[in-house]
Amino acid sequence: MDKAKESLLKDKLAYVIGDLQHYVAYQKSLGVEFLPGSAKKIPHPQPTLTEVREELGECKRCKLHFTRRHIVFGEGSEKALLVFIGEAPGEDEDRQGRPFVGKAGQLLTRIINAIDLRREEVYITNIIKCRPPHNRNPQQDEIATCEPFLKKQLEIIQPKIICALGSFAAQTLLKTDEKISQLRGRFFLYRGIKVMPTYHPAFLLRNPHKKREVWKDIKKIHGEYIK
Ligand code: URA
Ligand code: URA
Repeated sequence: MDKAKESLLKDKLAYVIGDLQHYVAYQKSLGVEFLPGSAKKIPHPQPTLTEVREELGECKRCKLHFTRRHIVFGEGSEKALLVFIGEAPGEDEDRQGRPFVGKAGQLLTRIINAIDLRREEVYITNIIKCRPPHNRNPQQDEIATCEPFLKKQLEIIQPKIICALGSFAAQTLLKTDEKISQLRGRFFLYRGIKVMPTYHPAFLLRNPHKKREVWKDIKKIHGEYIK
């Protein structure tokens, strides 16, 4: 089979698996514990977010632990259908141990509220959990060390949609170096989950005229959310 076909098939399969995971999670949320034709109990999704946080511990797996104040694991609902993923904690987040609590975070909260959701109903996290010194870009070894925890978070939450905030999150998740201006506005797949890249709220604070485009992207996310 040629590569393009194989990749298309893989994407389709990932979609089907993603949908199936959703269906099962939804049934479970309704209290269904058995599926027809199956005598087996639907297994409980392995660990919880609290357990993953415990596994992370007072992490010293990469050099960022020397300079960070607090690990910023993420917060929100373990059952969120929508997960926002930023780049890395900034100064405010590092101080408080919570994601997106500074100026950019306040804008993110307004964006979430604009589609009638509250922060507690979604999940908010970052590609890496510790602030890089002077907010420099995260480095490859730091991403590689931290990404397994993001993967675990997403396996537990099993969201329907991921919103990748800014070029770093989008490029890291999608393993591409395409520009955010090219990536935004379209759905991609990350491990079977639909990903909508959009501009980072910090970028919007500097370029308010780009809010129109983010609003378009957010409306697409909302359309998918209520589907
Ligand atoms: N910017 C990010 O990418 N993440 C945060 O948590 C805060 C600001
Ligand atoms: N550059 C980024 O890193 N993020 C944006 O959202 C826009 C430009």
